[in-house]
Amino acid sequence: MKKPQRKSFLVFGKPYIGHEEIAEVVDTLKSGWWGTGPKTEEFETAFAHYAKAKYALGVNSATAGLHLALIALGVGKGDEVITTPLTFVSTANVILHCGATPVFADVDRETWNIDPKEIEKKITSKTKVILPVHLHGRPCDMDAIMSIARRHKLFVVEDAAHAAEAVYKRKKIGSIGDITVFSFYVTKNIATGEGGMVTTNSKKFAESMRIMSLHGLSQDAYKRYSVRYYRHYEAVTPGYKYNLTDIASSIGIHQLARVEKNWVIRKQHWETYMHAFTSVPELMLPAAESPNTKHARHLFAILLRLEKLRISRDDFVDQLIKMNIGSGVHFSPVHLHEYYRKTFGFKKNMFPHAEFIGERTVSLPLGANLREKDIHDVIAAVSWLAGEWKK
Ligand SMILES: Cc1ncc(COP(=O)(O)O)c(C=O)c1O
Repeated sequence: MKKPQRKSFLVFGKPYIGHEEIAEVVDTLKSGWWGTGPKTEEFETAFAHYAKAKYALGVNSATAGLHLALIALGVGKGDEVITTPLTFVSTANVILHCGATPVFADVDRETWNIDPKEIEKKITSKTKVILPVHLHGRPCDMDAIMSIARRHKLFVVEDAAHAAEAVYKRKKIGSIGDITVFSFYVTKNIATGEGGMVTTNSKKFAESMRIMSLHGLSQDAYKRYSVRYYRHYEAVTPGYKYNLTDIASSIGIHQLARVEKNWVIRKQHWETYMHAFTSVPELMLPAAESPNTKHARHLFAILLRLEKLRISRDDFVDQLIKMNIGSGVHFSPVHLHEYYRKTFGFKKNMFPHAEFIGERTVSLPLGANLREKDIHDVIAAVSWLAGEWKK
């Protein structure tokens, strides 16, 4: 078979943007109110409704949101937070930002999500929070996780950076755990450049996170500078600068309005990939969904069967780049990053499932702005490489 070569580079994770976002941003720029104000309030209200949560707080990244969530739950020095090693480093970094210790529990080999049985093994008297990640958009086993949390009186913070559209057993992700955090980074299903949203059903957590997200002030800037009245404000605690701007929210409002429509397009791309790759024995494919759950289909990842190939994952990704196909790795397990190895003494083989997946995973382009031809270019390149490098 002739080597397929795409003419232009297919960018991985290019955001989908319409005229509505551009017009809204221009409107915000002209309004003179660029900070956190009415557009962010509108976005928060719409997002809370979408996530079926009582409260939503716009933040300038999911990392900031995760940090605020742990602070609101009182996580501090001496506490332990159980999370998955198969995630982006920021999920674990924020635990350290609170002075607490990240404790990893291995993932399930099928779903690639944290395994509740492993969580249970890691609980100690210091455990305060379970922090599951809905990897690639697949909901974790939330019934099992919530039941463990209730039995041991622990909080649950969900990292839903990939999972805006996800539903678990008819419950929307964003409405289940104590606090849930979404990311609006450029490559995400809802993108605002940088940004995120935190949802909760607790008034107490919502209020404390809002105050902590803006310097610890009792009034936000929009209220302070309102034309209608003047209000004195006070720092009630030394907070952070984690608020979402109205410029970002202007994009987010329209991204959110289009989120379900884009999901349907990505589902079609997903099915095209699944259909094409079932006949490629060198690849492992994502597991089927469990009943009554909805995968957000943020990332479509294949696992390379390295035992059947003469090429490493990294070289496979390099070869794809040479064929003009961008791809990604989500993720190299956190415990094997330099800082975590050196600080906590983590070594290979400690979390065998996360490592197995981390060594083999390749995320392929899945954006709603991709056309069928783009997906077929990816299929041709991946299939050709698998054939060329098979043992
Ligand atoms: C699983 C996961 N959690 C958290 C984050 C952090 O998101 P943000 O870039 O919005 O801080 C990411 C970012 O890609 C992620 O993939």
